[in-house]
Amino acid sequence: MSDAVLGQFTQAKQEEIKAGGRKLKVGIIGTGWIAESHIQSYKRQPDVEVVAAADLIPGKAEAFMERYSVEGVRYYPDHLAMLEAEALDAVSVCTYNRTHAVCTIDALQRGVNVLLEKPMCVTTEEAVEICRAEKASGKVLSIGFQPRFDVNMQMIKKIVQSGELGQIYYIQTGGGRRRGIPNSTFIEQKTAGIGALGDIGCYSLDVVLNAIGYPKPLTVSGYISAFFGPNPLYNNPADAARFNVDDFAAAFVRLEGGIILDFRIAWAMHMDTPGDTLIFGTKGGLRIPSTDCWNGSVGGPMTIYHDVAGERVETTVPVLKNDASKGGLFDQKIRSFLDAILQGGESPVSAGEILYNQAIIDGILQSSQVGREIEIVIPEI
Ligand SMILES: NC(=O)c1ccc[n+]([C@@H]2O[C@H](COP(=O)([O-])OP(=O)(O)OC[C@H]3O[C@@H](n4cnc5c(N)ncnc54)[C@H](O)[C@@H]3O)[C@@H](O)[C@H]2O)c1
Repeated sequence: MSDAVLGQFTQAKQEEIKAGGRKLKVGIIGTGWIAESHIQSYKRQPDVEVVAAADLIPGKAEAFMERYSVEGVRYYPDHLAMLEAEALDAVSVCTYNRTHAVCTIDALQRGVNVLLEKPMCVTTEEAVEICRAEKASGKVLSIGFQPRFDVNMQMIKKIVQSGELGQIYYIQTGGGRRRGIPNSTFIEQKTAGIGALGDIGCYSLDVVLNAIGYPKPLTVSGYISAFFGPNPLYNNPADAARFNVDDFAAAFVRLEGGIILDFRIAWAMHMDTPGDTLIFGTKGGLRIPSTDCWNGSVGGPMTIYHDVAGERVETTVPVLKNDASKGGLFDQKIRSFLDAILQGGESPVSAGEILYNQAIIDGILQSSQVGREIEIVIPEI
């Protein structure tokens, strides 16, 4: 669709909503921690009304909406009851990882647009089913990677895509915290399904895979461990007793196009960092300083190592400030999703790309289990 046609379509759609006095009707599935960021952002959008909320824990959704002074909301004991009873334009899926797939697929099958929190889900099979449901529905599905809206992340992609680094052949990515094990539903198989690898690993994979255009992953040799989470020396005893996911992961991944991805991620370690993110190209290399807590920002100015007029030169790329007039990264994540619904545009963070992110994560878990390199098989969508 051309910009002009797109503009007319958006205006027509917005006018139709205005003429009917109608705002986009949104439901929240799962009213825990991250739903707080969703509701605050939705409240700042003039063309949205949050009309429904569901949570498995009785009374939780009601208390949540009361805390944020949102009135006129209808409440449901689970996502399916909500989807059956409501005619919604969109939902935010803010549940723990284990129920991401079922909530997303059930919503798409009922013609509802979905903003799905990260990581996409737990297994590659689930990710494939999500992509198939998206394709069959023709609705917008966006995956909640708000770092995509950080101008520094966009700069990394711009540098790579400009050809400044030449052909990319090797990437080291990852990050982690010396001590930073979360609690609540993040640390159990039955709710999270994956630990640090899914929680923050998905972000560090996204930074580099997005920059290089998400090539298909081919093979992976992965390792996971949990020497900190279950140990009461490093975790509070109640959380240590129920901890049964990974707190560290490392992998060597082969990507289409002959690119090697060397990855490591940690919720806890006896180290300050598992290393900066490094992108090696035939004409230049890019160093992206790591952060203490992987939160989608860069840890300091980036450096490009290249030859200029036959001399080895380092070019500093300063940390860029995000444009405050666009709102925070979370607001941009919500707004871009709403705009894609209204404009009939592309998904801001496409499930087709994040499928590869998920396949690497699942591949690391599978490879670790069998103790050798495995092929990553992704069925046709
Ligand atoms: N984008 C970010 O910056 C960010 C930050 C934190 C967490 N997250 C992601 O958000 C997700 C949720 O994390 P959280 O800390 O809010 O979890 P949480 O445990 O605090 O909340 C999840 C809620 O979902 C509810 N739930 C589960 N299945 C449901 C269903 N079928 N129907 C209705 N409710 C259901 C649970 O009862 C729970 O209250 C995780 O996948 C996490 O990775 C994203």
